[in-house]
Amino acid sequence: MAVKPKTLSEARAVYSTNSELAWWVFMRISGLFLIFLVFGHMFFNNIQINVADVDYAYVAKRFSKSWVKIYDSFLLGFAMLHGINGLRYSLEDYIQRPGRRFWAKVVLFTVAAVIFVLGVMTLWAFSFEEMGDAVRGLQHSN
Ligand code: HEM
Repeated sequence: MAVKPKTLSEARAVYSTNSELAWWVFMRISGLFLIFLVFGHMFFNNIQINVADVDYAYVAKRFSKSWVKIYDSFLLGFAMLHGINGLRYSLEDYIQRPGRRFWAKVVLFTVAAVIFVLGVMTLWAFSFEEMGDAVRGLQHSN
């Protein structure tokens, strides 16, 4: 990527495919959302509580609320897609040989897929039984 487009019309001229143009737009939108999502996340997990006090019960209590899971799903989805696509840009810029570039991307996408699936499972497969007291205590704490 020799020319770095700054506006949508420049991006239209630089990218030869619609999918690359869509990724360019996505990187700008997700970047903006991530600023708020990550600061919100830091506020809940670093400021509202001392990091040293984060334990199983705290996470179980947070995951017993649907909005936390939905919030975290957006955080996970945006952070993964934004980060992995950014890394893909770097691999395409720096790895010159097509064979190496191909395999670097295979490794990147495989690792990303595994992390993403594990993240979704952690968010959504936590059962109410496993949350135990955190769920039973909801009436009192909300
Ligand atoms: C010191 C910094 C951080 C602390 C202490 C922290 C703490 C936590 C905690 C306690 C949870 C459990 C769920 C919740 O309460 O929302 C969590 C989940 C999560 N955090 Fe962080 N976090 C930190 C930084 C970040 C950053 C910088 C990102 C992204 C750029 C991030 C992304 C996530 C995601 C995506 C989840 C959901 C994980 C899943 O899929 O199960 N965190 N974090």
